[in-house]
Amino acid sequence: MIVQKQKVDFEKSSVEESLFIPLLVKVKESERGDAVFTDTKAQEIINSISLDINRFDGGNITYHGILVRTAILDSIVNDFIAKNPEGIILNLGAGLDTRIYRMDCSKIYWFDIDLPRVIELRRRFFSESERVRFISKSLLDESWANDINIDISRPILIIAEGLLMYFTESELKMILNILTEKFSNAQMCFDVIHKFFVGKGISSKFKWGIEKASEIEQLSPKVKLVKAWSAGDYHKNRQELFFRAMNVFQSTRNRSQVLLVKLG
Ligand SMILES: C[S@@+](CC[C@H](N)C(=O)[O-])C[C@H]1O[C@@H](n2cnc3c(N)ncnc32)[C@H](O)[C@@H]1O
Repeated sequence: MIVQKQKVDFEKSSVEESLFIPLLVKVKESERGDAVFTDTKAQEIINSISLDINRFDGGNITYHGILVRTAILDSIVNDFIAKNPEGIILNLGAGLDTRIYRMDCSKIYWFDIDLPRVIELRRRFFSESERVRFISKSLLDESWANDINIDISRPILIIAEGLLMYFTESELKMILNILTEKFSNAQMCFDVIHKFFVGKGISSKFKWGIEKASEIEQLSPKVKLVKAWSAGDYHKNRQELFFRAMNVFQSTRNRSQVLLVKLG
């Protein structure tokens, strides 16, 4: 039987199509004998769509950064779920993120927020339920936060994976303002790129980056850094020799970082 592959028609170089970059890393990683994680949902999605995958291959640095951030964020999210099985997770810029399939989210309240055309695509592969909801709005439209229509006194974890680098500093201040006003006391985890990469990018161009993790606190007085992980320090056996050697420099180690902050 010939299965017709589904077409996806995002504009070339649009921020929406950047979602294929992490999705493809999850697929490639799943095919390795020494995989750090496997992701059958990502494989199922990629197998059912028609896509020029070469356009979304960011090379070794991108692959390694996504590998590290996926593993660290998985562990942060798992830890949150273990402590707060009925808590709330807000997945900002969800794209076709498959994390909900990689862990036990059976009691968690999970909200995926992304631009309308992405949520339309997400609906082809993921379903909403009483506990899993999609919000089809830009994060710059502050009304999205009012669509979290459950008791927000529960513990909240906000995830922003592969997202913040696509905003300008003033847009980020606005988003953090919405988050700190509405979800004070929440924890938030996300990855950041080094400012060296601003202006670069595989599809849409990056607009924001930092050098040191502590710079995140300059965006809002209500954001407190809890912990930072530098990509260069993890899965060293999967880094090219040149980068392993260059990791003696903080800026190289910090080419991509994962941060955990507290909103207050
Ligand atoms: C690189 S993808 C990451 C997707 C997903 N978090 C993951 O790691 O697989 C960036 C995502 O951010 C979304 N995004 C960009 N700007 C946005 C905005 N203003 N509001 C909501 N989502 C946005 C894009 O549509 C895209 O799905």
